[in-house]
Order: sequence, then structure tokens, then C-alpha cells
Amino acid sequence: MNRILITGGTGFIGSHTCIALLSKGYDLFVIDSLKNSSKKSLEKIKEIFKKDNKDISSKLRFFEGDLKNKEFIENIFKKAQEDDNPIKGVIHFAGLKAVAESVSKPLLYWNNNVIGSYNLIKSMEKNDCQTIVFSSSATVYGNTSEDLLKEDSPLSPTNPYGTTKLSVENLLKDISQNGNWRIAILRYFNPIGAHKSGLIGENPLQKPNNIFPIIINSAFNKEKLKVFGNDWPTKDGTCIRDYIHVMDLAEGHLKSLNYLIENDPQLLTLNIGKGRGISVIELIKTFENVNNISVPFEFDERREGDVCQLVADNSKLKSILNWSPTKSLEEMCIDGWKWKNLNPKGYS
Ligand SMILES: NC(=O)c1ccc[n+]([C@@H]2O[C@H](COP(=O)([O-])OP(=O)(O)OC[C@H]3O[C@@H](n4cnc5c(N)ncnc54)[C@H](O)[C@@H]3O)[C@@H](O)[C@H]2O)c1
Repeated sequence: MNRILITGGTGFIGSHTCIALLSKGYDLFVIDSLKNSSKKSLEKIKEIFKKDNKDISSKLRFFEGDLKNKEFIENIFKKAQEDDNPIKGVIHFAGLKAVAESVSKPLLYWNNNVIGSYNLIKSMEKNDCQTIVFSSSATVYGNTSEDLLKEDSPLSPTNPYGTTKLSVENLLKDISQNGNWRIAILRYFNPIGAHKSGLIGENPLQKPNNIFPIIINSAFNKEKLKVFGNDWPTKDGTCIRDYIHVMDLAEGHLKSLNYLIENDPQLLTLNIGKGRGISVIELIKTFENVNNISVPFEFDERREGDVCQLVADNSKLKSILNWSPTKSLEEMCIDGWKWKNLNPKGYS
């Protein structure tokens, strides 16, 4: 079966995507620096399959290393060739993602996200592997007055994290010009939730600054969270985002990868969201209702780099992949809370 390289595969979205690909029989090489994750996520994945009497150990191989190290990447491609099962495609998740940190440490973000991606793409070309699915972000759109964002809406990131994502998108656009590459740029909106088993979920080693893990921690530790801004021009004054269940997002990667493999070389850019705007207060209230728990919060000033509303127009996703996310906001909240309760300290 086709071998796929998953960079950043022990992380939140990467580990859930491994499940989606393994379920379809793919053979995976996972690489990660473990800077923001634990390789225990892979042990949990094996456990999930074992519950269904499936042993996927031989199809899930892990290599610890950093994309900034060219030799490391080169050796991964060599290893796959030595096994007589070369890497057929790459899903590239590896990257740093904390917006606030990117504002204070832009060089760290350029080095890790842009140089790391450049090294990967260079090795791919050298080893005749020209199929890649790239994790981009709705952050590339920046401040906007549009209700729904289309893939061709203006791009104008408001922070270095978003600039690094857009730079890699541009690099991919440039290399696609030779007509040999199969590239999918996926612009995620807000992935939350966890695998329904509660065995894997979001487990950041760095302090989270996205809302969902903060809500979970607030409910769990009974600590007040800060909602940044209640004076945005929205129905309740709080920011609007488009939340998508992480298993739906994982499925979106599988569909995109299959689409690329089955079609002619091309550059495909897709929004991956549900197309429904939810305010921070709505998210908190839904979490409280479905889990029967209170989430203490207070309002604070708006946060630098935040934008009012980011919601996907996902019509291109639906028409090209013939697929759209199905899981509800309620399921996202239930699954995320289950993960926390089964793993109060994460994977440790
Ligand atoms: N989670 C979100 O809300 C979100 C939204 C839009 C886009 N994204 C993008 O999706 C991707 C995955 O996000 P996630 O939420 O799973 O984050 P994550 O931090 O859980 O996973 C990213 C993984 O990449 C690894 N990594 C980072 N730099 C690396 C390097 N140079 N070499 C090797 N490994 C490296 C980290 O250790 C981590 O395990 C990231 O590129 C992120 O920017 C995430």
C-alpha cells in the first residue's frame, strides 16, 4: 500500500489524520521534533486499532527529528527506498502555530516554518516525490469585512505566523508552475474536539492560546478564562470563528490526498471549515450545556493580532472533493471534554 510521510504527525491534527489514513490501509512514516507533542500519541493510536482487533504497528513508523535538519529528511526518503516502498506523498503538518509567540519571535517562526518547509520540498523533488498536502490556515486572510471567505478572497495576514503560512503557500505555487506537482493547500478554520475514544486529543506542551483547550482547562480547574473583547461588531460582541471537528479535518486530508493521487498534477487551494460562524460566547454556552459543567470567564481587552470574524465559504471543498464536514458543535464539545477527563495530564 502507498507509503505517506506525515510531518508533525504526533501533534494534534497529525495524530488524528494518522487514524484516518491507517483506517484506509496506508503505510505511514511519521516524523516529528516532539517540540509540541509526545510520541505517546502513536501508542494511543495503536491502542485504538487494537480495540478493533487490528494490529497496525508495522504500518506506523516514527522517526524523531527536525525539518530544519536536511540530512535527517534525506535519510527518511532513503530509508523508504531501501524498504522498496518509496514515499508516495507527504502531508505536511510540522510547524509552530502560536500567534502571540510569532509576534515576539518572528525569526523563530521563519526558520522553523519556512526553512523547514523549504528543506522538505527540496528533498521531495530530489527523491521524485511530488505530491503534498500542506497545512495552511484561515489566518492568511487577515482582517476582512467579508461574511464568508472564499479561496480567492484577499490575503493579508496580520501576524508572522500567518506570514509564514502564506510564504509556504507562495513557494508551493511557484514550484507548481512546472506542471509536475500535485499540491493541496488546505486552509483550516478552527479545529477542535478529539477522537471519540477519548484516547487522543489536543495535548500542547506549550501554553495553549487557542480558545478550546483554554475552555477545557477552565472547566476542569475552575479557573476564570479571559474572553478577549466584548465590543466586536458581532451579535454578542465576541469574535466569530468557524469550528470544525478534528476528525472531520482528518477526513478532509484523506479525501484531499486521494483526490491528488487520482488526478492530474495541479495546485488545489481549499478552505476546510463548516461554513458556520460561532461566537466565543456560543461556544462556551454549548460546552456548558452538553457537558453539564460551568466554564467561568471574564471579559478582557481585545488581543493584538486578533480579527473579528473568520468563517469559511466551503462550497469549493464540497464541489471538488464531493465531501463536507458533518460533526456538530455539540460533538466537538463532548469529545474534547471526554479526552480531558480520561487524560487530565495529557499523555504523561
Ligand atoms: N490547530 C489549529 O488551530 C490550526 C489551525 C490552522 C492551521 N494549523 C496548522 O496545522 C498544523 C498542525 O497543527 P496542530 O494543531 O496539530 O499543531 P501541533 O503543535 O499539535 O502539531 C505540530 C507538530 O509539528 C511538530 N513540529 C514543529 N516544528 C517542527 C519541525 N521543524 N520539525 C519537525 N516537527 C516539527 C511539533 O512538535 C508538533 O508535534 C500546523 O502547521 C499548524 O500551523 C493549525
